Amino acid sequence: MSLLQVRNLGVEFETNAGPVFAVRGVDMNLDRGETLAIVGESGSGKSQAVFAMMGLLAANGRASGSVKFDGTEILNAPPKVLNPIRANRMAIIFQDPMTSLNPYMRVSEQMIEVLKLHKGMGKREAMAECVRMLDAVKIPDAKSRVNLYPHEFSGGMRQRVMIAMALLCRPDMLIADEPTTALDVTVQAQIMRLLADLQRDFGMALILITHDLGVVAGSAERVIVMYGGQVMEKGPVGEMFQTPSHPYTRGLLSSIPRVDQREDQLRSIPGNPPNMAKQQAGCPFAPRCDFAGEDCLTHLDALTGFAPGRERACNRPAEQVMGAPA
Ligand SMILES: Nc1ncnc2c1ncn2[C@@H]1O[C@H](COP(=O)(O)OP(=O)(O)OP(=O)(O)O)[C@@H](O)[C@H]1O
Ligand SMILES: [Mg+2]
Repeated sequence: MSLLQVRNLGVEFETNAGPVFAVRGVDMNLDRGETLAIVGESGSGKSQAVFAMMGLLAANGRASGSVKFDGTEILNAPPKVLNPIRANRMAIIFQDPMTSLNPYMRVSEQMIEVLKLHKGMGKREAMAECVRMLDAVKIPDAKSRVNLYPHEFSGGMRQRVMIAMALLCRPDMLIADEPTTALDVTVQAQIMRLLADLQRDFGMALILITHDLGVVAGSAERVIVMYGGQVMEKGPVGEMFQTPSHPYTRGLLSSIPRVDQREDQLRSIPGNPPNMAKQQAGCPFAPRCDFAGEDCLTHLDALTGFAPGRERACNRPAEQVMGAPA
């Protein structure tokens, strides 16, 4: 049985301007110890999908469908069911470390509080565990730095502190929601490498959310590509890079910066992301798609397997998209 099993996940927000359909019909599985990447441009529904799973939607949001964690239904589950799982078995790290660190408390105090509360540790034992965890995320001289306040760390180091916090309870699953976008490129690479190392050392499952397909190349086994709140393509990372089967994935891949490219030569996909306030019948990517026909505006084939481990939602045949010149 998969550690995480998501079926027909939907997220809808009530706003003054009417409903916003942020996530639609998302299915995904995550095995123990596996790394799965969710990619897609800004606004494609990546964060809201995982926020819904963790019961973290804003007050105007409503989730539908089913999310089973280790066999237990957790979507819209009562606190009695959800809280123990959230405290001990799944953790999330956000783009901005300050959203999960308290600026007024020393890092040691914050970490010790978690360990006392959730693991019943005494102060001394908890302190030793904090230092061990800061060591694990490669913070130099952890023993003395553990007593600093969050703002006394650099951006990259603060991100490491937040990862250490998230790992304190040794979760079975860690969700990293664009954990590196606020950092410069070298530090980004270090954090990604760190996450991959920790995932292996701790044997946890990892969901890596990013809008940059480039960063998943070396770190994930499988990728889910989202657009307009829906899954466009799913598959093993290597094959998807070699032969993207969806026009949107092709577009994302051709907008990855290459070392031999100047910044002003970077290609991005022309056009704008869809308006999520509309209940579209067709493919959300159709207005920007080179392969689209009239049919794509009114109908989208359901996500279907076309090769081992690979699925796509597109009206055009996979061979046509995969065989098209770059
Ligand atoms: N509280 C809210 N009320 C109304 N709409 C919302 C709310 N929160 C999010 N949305 C909308 O949900 C959609 C999906 O947002 P989401 O945050 O999941 O995007 P994302 O893929 O994570 O993008 P990014 O890469 O920028 O983080 C967006 O259109 C966003 O405007
Ligand atoms: Mg997001």
